[in-house]
Amino acid sequence: MANKLNLLFRVLVIATLMQFGTISVIGQPNVTDPPRPPPPKVPCTFVFGDSLVDDGNNNDLNTRAKFNYAPYGIDFPGRRATGRATNGRTIADFITQLLGLLGFIPPYATVTDEQIPRGVNYGSGGAGILDDTGRKLGDRIDLNHQLLRHAIIVSRLKRLQGNDKTFTEEYLKKCIYLVDIGSNDYINNYFMPNDYIAGRIYTPPQFASKLIEKYSQQLKKLYDLGARKIAVFGVGLLGCTPFERARYDTKGAPCVEPINNAVKLFNDQLPPLVDGFNRDYPGASFTFINMTSISTPLEGDPPLSFDPCCPTNSDGLCIQDSMPCPNRDMTAFFDDLHPTQVANGRLAARSYKKATPMDARPFDISQLAEKP
Ligand SMILES: *[C@@H]1O[C@H](CO)[C@@H](O)[C@H](O)[C@H]1NC(C)=O
Ligand SMILES: *[C@@H]1O[C@H](CO)[C@@H](O)[C@H](O)[C@H]1NC(C)=O
Repeated sequence: MANKLNLLFRVLVIATLMQFGTISVIGQPNVTDPPRPPPPKVPCTFVFGDSLVDDGNNNDLNTRAKFNYAPYGIDFPGRRATGRATNGRTIADFITQLLGLLGFIPPYATVTDEQIPRGVNYGSGGAGILDDTGRKLGDRIDLNHQLLRHAIIVSRLKRLQGNDKTFTEEYLKKCIYLVDIGSNDYINNYFMPNDYIAGRIYTPPQFASKLIEKYSQQLKKLYDLGARKIAVFGVGLLGCTPFERARYDTKGAPCVEPINNAVKLFNDQLPPLVDGFNRDYPGASFTFINMTSISTPLEGDPPLSFDPCCPTNSDGLCIQDSMPCPNRDMTAFFDDLHPTQVANGRLAARSYKKATPMDARPFDISQLAEKP
C-alpha cells in the first residue's frame, strides 16, 4: 500500500516537473542536454504573509492592494504582471529557488491538485496578523484566513496521497514554511490612527504585545497543521520606506524613527517566541529571520538608492502603466513600499545562508532544510 502511494506521489511530482519543462521524457540524455538540476533540498514550500510574498492571491479581490498591472512584473519571466508587488521575483520566489524547487509556488487562488504537493502560497497584499489590518484598502486574506486555507490544502493533500494520514504527516514535516507578516499591522493599522482605532488606544508596547499574543496562537495553529520547519520573518525598517518618509517629518534623519522604534518592540519579542516553540513543542524547528540585519548592506554590496523606482499613487503603489526607472538593479524600492527584485534577491540570500550571526537565529533556512 505504502509503495503504491509512493509511486502515485512520484508520478505527481514528475508530472509537476514536466509542466516546468525540466524533464525530457523523449530520448536518452546526451551531451548537448543541459545538466540535470540537483534534487530539491525539501519537497515543498508553503508561504504565508502579505504583499512581500503575494504572488497573485489578490488579483481577483476587490482591493487597492493588488499588483497585477504594469509596470509590476516588468522583470519577471515573460515581463508579466502576476500579482507580485515588485518588478520581478519576491523573497519567497528566491528562497524557493535556493531550496532547489523548480518553477514558482502557485497562489492558493489558482492552485491545482497536481501542484499542491510542491507547496502553496497564501500571501495576500494588505493582510496582517490582526483581522482588521488593511481593511481600508479592501478585501484581503488575513493570517487567520490563510491558516484556514492551509487546513483545506492539507486535507486536499491527504486525499491526493490516498488518505494515508501518516504519509501526509511525514510529508508535511519535511516542507519549509515561510511566514512573512506584520508590516501592515503597522503601516495599514497602527500608524493610520484616523482610519484604525489601534493607534488611538494602545501605546507601542501594548500594541506589540497584542500582536505577539495573536501571532503566537497563529503559529501554534500552523504547527498543529503539521508544520515543523518554520521561518518567521521579522518586520523590516518600515520607517525607512519612501511611503513613511513622505508622510512624516523625519527631522533630518534618513528614517522615521518612532515607526522603527515601535516595530522594534514587536521584533524583539520574536526570538524568545521562537525559542519557546522549539523548547515546548516536540519536533519543532522554528527560526527567526532578522529583516533589519539582512537588509543592512555588507561590505562590498553595491549600494542601492532609496528612491522609489516607479511613479506612485497615494497608496504608495505604482501608477498603472507608468514608466519605471531604467536602473532597477540599483534601487532598493520598486514602489514606495516594496523591494525591487535585486533587493529581494539579497534578502533571500541572507535568509538562506546567514552572512552574520544576527541574520537568522537559531537557524538559517539552509540549516532548517537539513533538519531531519
Ligand atoms: C541530443 O539532444 C539534442 C537536443 O537536446 C538533439 O538535437 C540531438 O539530436 C540529440 N542527439 C542524440 C545523439 O540523441
Ligand atoms: C536584528 O539585527 C539588528 C542588527 O542589524 C540588531 O540590532 C537587532 O537587535 C536584531 N533584532 C533581533 C530581534 O534580534
